[in-house]
Amino acid sequence: MPTKVDKPILVLGIESSCDESAVAIYHSEQGLLAHNLYSQVELHAKYGGVVPEVASRDHIRKLAPLIEQILAETGNPKIDAVAYTAGPGLVGALLAGSAVARSLAFAWGVPAVGVHHMEGHLLAPMLEENAPKFPFIALLVSGGHSMLVRVDGIGKYRLLGDTLDDAAGEAFDKTAKMLGLGYPGGPIVSKLALQGETGRFVFPRPMIDRPGLDLSFSGLKTFALNTWQKAVQNGDENDQTRTDICRAFELAVAGTLAIKCRRALQQEGLSRLVVSGGVSANREIRAQLDEMAAKNGFATFYPRLEFCTDNAAMIAYAGTQRLLAGEQNDLDFAAKPRWSLEELSAI
Ligand code: KG4
Ligand code: ZN
Repeated sequence: MPTKVDKPILVLGIESSCDESAVAIYHSEQGLLAHNLYSQVELHAKYGGVVPEVASRDHIRKLAPLIEQILAETGNPKIDAVAYTAGPGLVGALLAGSAVARSLAFAWGVPAVGVHHMEGHLLAPMLEENAPKFPFIALLVSGGHSMLVRVDGIGKYRLLGDTLDDAAGEAFDKTAKMLGLGYPGGPIVSKLALQGETGRFVFPRPMIDRPGLDLSFSGLKTFALNTWQKAVQNGDENDQTRTDICRAFELAVAGTLAIKCRRALQQEGLSRLVVSGGVSANREIRAQLDEMAAKNGFATFYPRLEFCTDNAAMIAYAGTQRLLAGEQNDLDFAAKPRWSLEELSAI
């Protein structure tokens, strides 16, 4: 049994699972003291998606200066432990972050803990004043994942539904690419959708007529492609058509998520819904989830916008909770590109 830590601790958090190099400093009693991030988005934009090797090399370049800077900003405090994203994610990117984290922990003579990236997303709303109490349902929607999880405590996770094909963010990214809109697609599609005409195109709501809580988004992407190709044939290949397709696509994603979340809450007899991951920054999705929640007497919780997408504050927070419970990992615990949330231990 790990021994609980009963004194306050100051933790350096490091995130590098995909295309953001991020650092944060979290105090177990005072909360988040500082966080900083360098996004590689521009580096990958010209390729239309994240190039793993480019990502790893850039993490190596950016992490050390980011750490130096955040330590200087906070007055070079004594760090008691290091928390780093150990998975899931791109293996080279994870190895870059974990090597830096483990080396610092070794040099400083402090423990290090490998954090599950999706546990970070799932607990991100805990960084807000209005933090949810357990138990709750978490909808985790990012570039790599779309999951509905029953959460009874830290590490007490039961997967209720998963995507059968594309993740929600991936569908946004691929749809944007098809329409020639650039990368990453989520923020671009959601911005355009604001000006789109509701009802010009109506997309199906995938999986809602099937029982269960699994999700599927690749059909919507194909529907968007077919709609666009038909518009091209009819000579409607213009920005208004792109905008109207974005609107219809976003409404369909939001509508499907709202129905699935209502089902999950009702099935589990719970009333709190946490929504996190990059796609939870989407305004239409938030609006439809809030409306569904208000109608059914549920409450919704989101991270602040900057903590919806990848960041180290959530990793520092999750790592701190595990360190306080006495967890730490040996030097050989480096990266786990594939790692199920359900494998985590309860604390
Ligand atoms: O959580 P995240 O930063 O990285 C992963 O762990 O995957 O999520 C990134 C994903 C991308 O697919 C991006 O297009 C999507 O989140 N995203 C959005 C929005 N902002 C980011 N999707 C829809 N609407 C947004 N406003
Ligand atoms: Zn993420």
